[in-house]
Amino acid sequence: MPQVIFHKQGQVHHGEVVPETNLVVRAGIRQFPYPHLRYGCGMGKCARCACRVLAGAEHLPEPNWKEVKLLGERLSGGYRLMCQLWIGHDIELAQDDDPPANAFTAAASSTPPARA
Ligand code: FES
Repeated sequence: MPQVIFHKQGQVHHGEVVPETNLVVRAGIRQFPYPHLRYGCGMGKCARCACRVLAGAEHLPEPNWKEVKLLGERLSGGYRLMCQLWIGHDIELAQDDDPPANAFTAAASSTPPARA
């Protein structure tokens, strides 16, 4: 069973999850990492779930187009969108107090114009 170590606001939380689990889905049903994980849309549109991967990144798939669009250069800093990942191995994550600064800008610019 994958072990998840989650850093948030100076505290470290530990949990065990079933393989191929999504942490945002788990938080949504009030399982670890609830209530610590910040998230929003659950669909790769808001970046509120962005976390830095401190260990275990080698087991994750390549970032998908939503992560590339929302996180941009922060991908190279180890950021990933937790709503877009299914955890199959041990992983250590940190979530900053604020979501990546450019996340909402990128999300807002992708909003289609209103219909007339
Ligand atoms: S919860 Fe909105 S992008 Fe992950």
